[in-house]
Order: sequence, then C-alpha cells, then structure tokens
Amino acid sequence: MSNPQLGLKINGKDYTLDADPNMPVLWAIRDILGLTGTKYGCGAGLCGACTIHVDGEPTRACLTSLKQVQGKQVTTIEGLAADKLQTAWRKHNVPQCGYCQAGQLMSAAALLAQYPEPNDAQIEEAMVGNLCRCGTYTRIKAAIKEAAAGPSALVDGQTREVEA
Ligand code: FES
Ligand code: FES
Repeated sequence: MSNPQLGLKINGKDYTLDADPNMPVLWAIRDILGLTGTKYGCGAGLCGACTIHVDGEPTRACLTSLKQVQGKQVTTIEGLAADKLQTAWRKHNVPQCGYCQAGQLMSAAALLAQYPEPNDAQIEEAMVGNLCRCGTYTRIKAAIKEAAAGPSALVDGQTREVEA
C-alpha cells in the first residue's frame, strides 16, 4: 500500500512528503529533508537532543509522528529566530562537542518566549530534559540569563504571550 501525501510546514516552508504517517518527525527532517541540525540522541524522549518546536512548544522529534504535526508549524534549529540567545551562546563559549546544543537552544528559546526574565527555578525546569554529556550546564544557564528579556524572546519569528 502506498503512503499518503503528507503536507508539512517546516520553518515557514510547505513540504509534501510521501512517507509513513507514523514516521517520527526526526527521521523526516533529517533523512528526507536534510535538516540535520536536529540531532538523534537516545530516540526515546530522554535526552532532548532532538528538540524542535511544534506551534512554539518544545517537542521531542524522536517521539512525535508526522501525523501529529499535520496542520501545525514545525520549527527546527535552522529556522530558529533567537539572535540574542545565539549571541550569548557564543559569548559564553557554551558548546563543547556541540552535539546537544541545538536541542538546548530550542528549549532555551521556548523558555524565554514564555518567561523573558526567567528565575533559576524556571530555567532549571525548562532545561532539565536536555542532557549534556560534556557538562556545559553552568554556561548554558549563564547564557540564558544574559540573553533574557531581549529579542531572544522571539520564537519562530513571533513574540508569544507572557504569562503573569
Ligand atoms: S533523541 Fe529524542 S529525546 Fe533523545
Ligand atoms: S556539548 Fe557535548 S553533549 Fe553537550
């Protein structure tokens, strides 16, 4: 039986894929579309390396199927609009091997969209699911604080409602 044609919106661009609707989004964006900035780590929702945004929410691409993102806006690290956050990352020399960093940035950008000036507890809660085998956690926290309350609060090119 042939696959249905699936319409996807990724980084503001429309794609039509001939793929199994149960395929994880991670396979589709990396292996079919060539968007390899999003990394495969555990494949089980445990490490955060594959974090993307689905309608602005940080989401594990390894556990999310193509049918679950139908009609939704998917953003990968290639489409992330968070210049100030990325500048702070560079300033603090955050990455070591770099493998986890796309996922870290996606989670941090979603955090700043929700809380432009996050406190320590909010940072820890937002970032706890993103593991780093190189132990860059202290630098990640410093970079998030530096970027806080700036244009990095832009996610997917839009500001989001800030909760009281
Ligand atoms: S690869 Fe998806 S959470 Fe680890
Ligand atoms: S920088 Fe190496 S795993 Fe995080």
